[in-house]
Amino acid sequence: MSPRWSQARRWSSISLLALALVALAAVPGLADPPSDKVAHGAALYEKYCALCHGPTAQGYAADNAPSLVTPQWLSGADDAFIVNSIALGRPDTAMGGFAKQVGGPMSDQEIDDLVAFLRSHGPPFVTLPVHAPGSARKGAAIYAQECVKCHGDRSKRGEAPWLANQTFLGLASDAFLYDAIARGRDGTKMKAYADQLEPEQIADVVAYLRSWSSGPPPVLVRAKGETSTGPIVLNPDGGAPEFTLRDQTYVPADEVKRALDEKKRMILIDARVASDWDREHISGAISVPYYALNGLDRIPNDGTWIVAYCACPHHASGEVVTELRKRGYPHTAVLDEGVLVWKERGYPMSSPAGAVASSAPAQ
Ligand code: HEC
Ligand code: HEC
Repeated sequence: MSPRWSQARRWSSISLLALALVALAAVPGLADPPSDKVAHGAALYEKYCALCHGPTAQGYAADNAPSLVTPQWLSGADDAFIVNSIALGRPDTAMGGFAKQVGGPMSDQEIDDLVAFLRSHGPPFVTLPVHAPGSARKGAAIYAQECVKCHGDRSKRGEAPWLANQTFLGLASDAFLYDAIARGRDGTKMKAYADQLEPEQIADVVAYLRSWSSGPPPVLVRAKGETSTGPIVLNPDGGAPEFTLRDQTYVPADEVKRALDEKKRMILIDARVASDWDREHISGAISVPYYALNGLDRIPNDGTWIVAYCACPHHASGEVVTELRKRGYPHTAVLDEGVLVWKERGYPMSSPAGAVASSAPAQ
């Protein structure tokens, strides 16, 4: 049989299969073929997620946002984990909550489509085996030796995902934690510890991580739907601040704090997901998320200094400043250290009255 002919035959069977699929999709009652959901999910991904998780969802475009397409993650994370990770975000990291219910931009249907898109990359979820519980005391020693250098400790995130985050711990089962440690994640810095630790030792580390949980699993609660209705320009009667910009773009947090203390005239823009603003923001900042830049239409173009910030710490705020410069605003800057460092330094933050936290309170 000539290779050409076998090629042709393969193609014709593929087109037959395609025809059959098209015919199936056309059967009434089989509305919304999965490929539509995936295509819609891909567009949503591009709009909301690529900024940090990268154009191909392999992660690490900003702030060490993890891969969303490793085979281990796709087969180890169930839909509830993925949907809720997107819906609720991870408070106190760059990952915002995207569900409308917490003040984000996405409907349940949109989040479903996004998950269908992520799922289209790899193996389906497989129910994970349950392991006998280990000893948190023994796990603490292993964590200190092996894990803290990348993941940070209970109070502070390192460069890898923050395992002490209460929303994460509320969503991740012990089996998920065990599996992530044992199998690692291809193509990332997370190696497969099954090659190095005994099963009991992995269970010990899981018990140690679990000892950090301080409450019941997070729940979706409806945000107040606060939006920034306060004044846009801060200290309208003040003089202009004097900022020294690194690379013509980045202003140090200390200078912005000083300018606020000295009542200088300026505008602060929170470029994160709207739900992050809802929870807590730099005092006086208005919300213009990186995915809704038409919010800039209401910003006066009169030479007032405009400082944008996010958590990543430059990507979302960079989008806002790039757009402002494109529109001809003369004095714009990105808060260099980002909002997480601002908060860590004890600089002023506000929560809109009555805003609801997106995870259940610790008990
Ligand atoms: C501003 C940057 C940023 C954007 C935009 C962003 N993420 Fe994330 N995401 C992160 C970071 C950082 C983490 C890890 C947080 C941590 O635990 O430390 C994360 C974690 C996650 C996780 C949890 C993964 C795991 O195994 O724990 C999922 C799922 C996720 N993001 C999906 C999305 C999706 C889908 C979108 C778009 C709707 C999105 N993210 C937008 C930065 C971002
Ligand atoms: C060299 C750095 C490094 C070390 C050391 C390391 N990790 Fe990781 N770990 C990572 C990275 C990076 C990821 C995210 C990978 C990705 O993109 O999916 C990760 C992911 C994880 C996850 C999944 C988190 C999530 O949100 O889905 C768990 C659980 C985890 N690591 C536990 C551990 C434990 C326990 C140890 C010590 C035994 C350890 N890691 C050691 C870098 C590291």
